[in-house]
Amino acid sequence: MDFRHLVAAPASLSPIVADALLLVVHGSALDASLEPALAALIGEAVEAGDFQLKAGKTLYVHRPAGFKVSRLLVVGAAATGVKSFKAAVATGLAQLKGSGAKHVAVAVADGAPLTALHGEALTSSVADATYVYRHTKPSAPKAPAMTRFTLVCGKAQARDVVAGLQRGAAIAAGVTLARECANRPGNFCTPTYLGEQAKRLGKEHGLKVEVLDRKAVEKLGMGSFLAVAQGSTEPLRFIVARYEGAPKSQAPVVLVGKGITFDTGGISIKPSAEMDEMKYDMGGAASVLGTLRAIAEIKPKLNVIGIIPSCDNMPSGHAVKPGDVVTSLSGQTIEILNTDAEGRLILCDALTYAERFKPAVVVDIATLTGACVVALGHHRSGLFTSDDALAAELLNAGDAALDPCWRMPLDDEYDEGLKSNFADMGNVGPRAGGAITAAMFLKRFTAKYRWAHLDIAGTAWKSGAAKGSTGRPVGLLTHFVLAQVK
Ligand code: BES
Ligand code: MN
Ligand code: ZN
Repeated sequence: MDFRHLVAAPASLSPIVADALLLVVHGSALDASLEPALAALIGEAVEAGDFQLKAGKTLYVHRPAGFKVSRLLVVGAAATGVKSFKAAVATGLAQLKGSGAKHVAVAVADGAPLTALHGEALTSSVADATYVYRHTKPSAPKAPAMTRFTLVCGKAQARDVVAGLQRGAAIAAGVTLARECANRPGNFCTPTYLGEQAKRLGKEHGLKVEVLDRKAVEKLGMGSFLAVAQGSTEPLRFIVARYEGAPKSQAPVVLVGKGITFDTGGISIKPSAEMDEMKYDMGGAASVLGTLRAIAEIKPKLNVIGIIPSCDNMPSGHAVKPGDVVTSLSGQTIEILNTDAEGRLILCDALTYAERFKPAVVVDIATLTGACVVALGHHRSGLFTSDDALAAELLNAGDAALDPCWRMPLDDEYDEGLKSNFADMGNVGPRAGGAITAAMFLKRFTAKYRWAHLDIAGTAWKSGAAKGSTGRPVGLLTHFVLAQVK
């Protein structure tokens, strides 16, 4: 993909050279500075009942008279601002996707100046509109012809827009990497595959990557992670990938991603309906790899470490059983009351492992609980942290990236549910508040650093006709990491 900017005023869009011009308009009145011929064209269409200045409405004009472009697509936006702009661009691109247009120019006539975030929004809608999964479906439709995009902006905004396009392209590449990993079926995306992807990412983008196998994990003493992995013949992997953009003495940002490459539930087996979607249970891991990909391209001056514990959760004669007690890397013992609450069992050992890096902050990302989907649906990820400042940083990062999250509580009262008569804790609490007790479980392993947990069970993928990975929360995480540069 090729993203550029072009300085031009709304009053002079007709000389723009491209295959298509996507013009975003909003409100009941057009931008007063819009080129008169264009304003007249739109005004007449509104009068004739062919177009409305409303979100989602489009007006297509083939070979518009007086224009250099051969296609003009006017798209209504709900309001000014980046979110509406992105939605309008997405609508426009969906329509232009089937056309022969290769080079699309995008302009806004909503009277508000463009920002870097508009540049990012363009790159991310383009990535969405042009992504095609084909790894196990060679017959999938061809990718759209559109490969070149030009964002039209004012002279004063050019610098910001260019920076946004660059940052956005890096994030889009990270999102696409995450989607490619997560969409691969469980028989392709195995822990071994994730390890190889990390190694490749390291080679191509200058990251230091270590991939530990079962022996190394046994030696470290990750009894909890090992208990989950023991039911599968698929070998486990523990991945550590480092981006070094600052002196070693600078405390790193650590991202820990849940990498369950398939979650059957284990002996506490899940019902069959929609179980295929549990291939997405490595969405946290995918987002860590995607974020490292974006960061490696943007090259900020800080250190970032990605940690991914990865295995399958399977029932078998070797599988861990309800009631089994294991010793985690932290030394705390865990009674595994439900083998389907496996995410926290692999994450707790990774969180303890993170201590050795003396991190500035640790964020874990996990498709952790169905309860989080019940609580928040599919729009916002669940955010859990006792640190108000950290919560604000993550909420802001999510808002800026249009990859939002919502803060959930972590009161000590919720810890009650984890009591066990046979170990330091059980791995499940009562059904009610399940996303919170899961977070409380993780909290017990994070006393040594600033920590937040993102439950992405509702946001990492889409179900139904549009089934597929979203690549979230790569946008949120990249923004968060970049904001840590002091
Ligand atoms: N990977 C699942 C969480 C999940 C379920 C995400 C459905 C998205 C959709 C996780 O490992 C799990 O099974 N969690 C259990 C926990 C329970 C046993 C306490 C759950 O949410 O049902
Ligand atoms: Mn599970
Ligand atoms: Zn799971």
